Amino acid sequence: MATVQLKNIGKKYTENYAVKGVNIDIQDGEFIVLVGPSGCGKTTTLRMIAGLEEISEGELAIDGAPANDLSPAERGIAMVFQSYALYPHMSVRENLAFGLRLQKVPADKIEAAVKNASEILHIEHLLDRKPKALSGGQRQRVAIGRAITRTPKVFLFDEPLSNLDAALRVQMRIEFARLHQDLQATMIYVTHDQIEAMTLADRIVVFSEGKVEQIGTPLQLYHQPNNLFVAGFIGSPKMNLVPVVIESADAHTAHVRMSDDSVVQIACDGTSLVSGDAATIGFRPEHLNVQPAGQSFGVNVTLCEQMGDSTMVYAQLKGFDKPVVIRVTDVFRAEKNQALRIGIVPNLTYLFDKNGMAVPRHLSDVHAQYV
Ligand SMILES: Nc1ncnc2c1ncn2[C@@H]1O[C@H](COP(=O)(O)OP(=O)(O)OP(=O)(O)O)[C@@H](O)[C@H]1O
Ligand SMILES: [Mg+2]
Repeated sequence: MATVQLKNIGKKYTENYAVKGVNIDIQDGEFIVLVGPSGCGKTTTLRMIAGLEEISEGELAIDGAPANDLSPAERGIAMVFQSYALYPHMSVRENLAFGLRLQKVPADKIEAAVKNASEILHIEHLLDRKPKALSGGQRQRVAIGRAITRTPKVFLFDEPLSNLDAALRVQMRIEFARLHQDLQATMIYVTHDQIEAMTLADRIVVFSEGKVEQIGTPLQLYHQPNNLFVAGFIGSPKMNLVPVVIESADAHTAHVRMSDDSVVQIACDGTSLVSGDAATIGFRPEHLNVQPAGQSFGVNVTLCEQMGDSTMVYAQLKGFDKPVVIRVTDVFRAEKNQALRIGIVPNLTYLFDKNGMAVPRHLSDVHAQYV
């Protein structure tokens, strides 16, 4: 187990930086999840930590010691790739043992390591099979097992579940959580899956274009995104981000005018806001409701998608070209073009200033204790 520190880390492939100015302080035993759009530098960051890619600038420290110039083997890190990269001609047992055999570890120690890893991952009955005789989820387990036998200080996972079907992903996600609990190891995990990020991470790092946008616990990022990028990235379905004009603001509330001329109130510290300025209001689909008791705005329904447990309502807000999405729990029906009032909750509404930076929100006591 180990701490990992990235200080001002950058990677230049050609003229352009793939990663720049990345600072992340990872605690011993922490589960860190890296998220961000395709091409934002997640794999490059993992590969620099693993020693598979040279670090162009900045300092990497593992357990407090400089690691930039260490070979991959000297770093004590195991990386599990999306493609699993198992040796097809070797049995599961040989795949698990291979790294240790290369290191000339004595046979009895190898056998014990293979036994331990296969017990942890419930693959004891598969040890004599070749990879081609395994399902996707079983192959994934062997790839993780191969990392475990090396008893690394740090595990790196690059989208390990993305080749699996939905049901298996859920099962493997729960196994990852258990694996982290059992091994108490430092893990850095890349995913595109919102639920994996929210449920597995101690902290999530949100990347955009090679830079870190925000680092925080899942609930910090959900409730207190720093800016429009993080607000739009964390959460599924995405937060509705709608242009507004500031009417008035003080330390407790801001009043903003929406494009249908509704004025809504948001619980925030609006002292830096100027009346008449453009801004963006954010509502998560799950925080809107179709039975407004208090504040609301008007829309016309475009489509209702029945999900069984809930209904996704897509609706048009006057003067705004994107659909507003409302998640209604349970079944809800409405006709196309039907006018609806959509209710909001002041302290479950987000506000971003004209530069796209979050205006500090006043959270309810329920939410404040988690962030
Ligand atoms: N060997 C390379 N040579 C030049 N550019 C590269 C190389 N490897 C990656 N890049 C570039 O670096 C940037 C970051 O790539 P990276 O693979 O880290 O993205 P990613 O966040 O892992 O994306 P994805 O989610 O699609 O896997 C991209 O613009 C990519 O084209
Ligand atoms: Mg990648």
